[in-house]
Amino acid sequence: MSYYGSFVYFLSIITIVLLSISNCESTPLDDYVRSVDSHFNWSLIRTYEEPDYKLYILNFTSQKWLDDTFSSRSIWWHYLCITVPNKLIRPNTAFLFMDQGSNNDGIPQPQNDFVALTSMFGVGSGSISVDLQDIPNGPIRFMADPTNTSRSGDAAIAWTWKAFTDNSSNGDVLLNLPMTKAAYRAMDAVQQFTDKQGIIVPKKFVVAGTSKRGGATWLTAAVDNERVIGAIPIVMDLLKIQFVRWFNQIKFPLFTLYYFKQIEFTSYV
Ligand SMILES: *[C@@H]1O[C@H](CO)[C@@H](O)[C@H](O)[C@H]1NC(C)=O
Ligand SMILES: *[C@@H]1O[C@H](CO)[C@@H](O)[C@H](O)[C@H]1NC(C)=O
Ligand SMILES: *[C@@H]1O[C@H](CO)[C@@H](O)[C@H](O)[C@H]1NC(C)=O
Ligand SMILES: *[C@@H]1O[C@H](CO)[C@@H](O)[C@H](O)[C@H]1NC(C)=O
Repeated sequence: MSYYGSFVYFLSIITIVLLSISNCESTPLDDYVRSVDSHFNWSLIRTYEEPDYKLYILNFTSQKWLDDTFSSRSIWWHYLCITVPNKLIRPNTAFLFMDQGSNNDGIPQPQNDFVALTSMFGVGSGSISVDLQDIPNGPIRFMADPTNTSRSGDAAIAWTWKAFTDNSSNGDVLLNLPMTKAAYRAMDAVQQFTDKQGIIVPKKFVVAGTSKRGGATWLTAAVDNERVIGAIPIVMDLLKIQFVRWFNQIKFPLFTLYYFKQIEFTSYV
């Protein structure tokens, strides 16, 4: 084989290997998060001019999650609060905080706890700072739930894990997927919004969140290692715990896991 021939041969092998690696690396989470959704949308609904920054409140629709036959919350829309400090000295990287709440609560105000906190962070660091609210969207009622209960946060997550364990044919039922997609699409919305406003578009993000949003912080970093350069999961690090043993020993309602016990998910493990 000529030098050129073996070079081409070598390149083809590398290409095939790379293609198969990238195929293997695409998880159901990647597929869900990256799939195009025509419901993605945002619009500016309020602007607050504060002494040191402007606070823009967007109505941001991140996705349609399954449909109305599964839950009462198929369309996920969020308040997306974007702080742009007057002194934007670090314009290339933005901070994205995944926040809780319900979009039933009304339009956010600058003095609300986590809005104010992210604004302070933005002004202090001289970077765009974003509070993404209503993760997960709730409260949710699940159509297959005989008790017709309105569930928020961990109660909703527990329900979807039970639904997935009962019928694993559709991985998209896991609430962790739309939570991650909301953060991923929020970065798109922030980039589109800043571009439209003539503000320097942040290319990179540092993402953070507490509790189940700490989990979503890990997942967001895992699905987008181009834009996410830092992740701050504010949650107990239980990745290496002997979960099954620990879970079965729980005899009392321990905050998050209370909801898993309540629907008897604990009997599955
Ligand atoms: C996006 O939002 C705008 C403003 O609310 C609305 O006019 C438009 O129809 C929406 N587009 C989609 C695809 O939902
Ligand atoms: C935000 O957008 C959603 C989806 O289009 C809509 O149902 C909701 O009423 C809007 N809320 C506000 C406050 O504009
Ligand atoms: C479930 O609860 C909702 C809201 O409380 C109510 O509108 C609906 O009719 C209830 N559905 C059933 C089947 O009871
Ligand atoms: C499992 O879910 C799929 C849809 O995701 C449905 O078509 C199928 O009938 C379900 N199986 C059972 C046993 O409920």
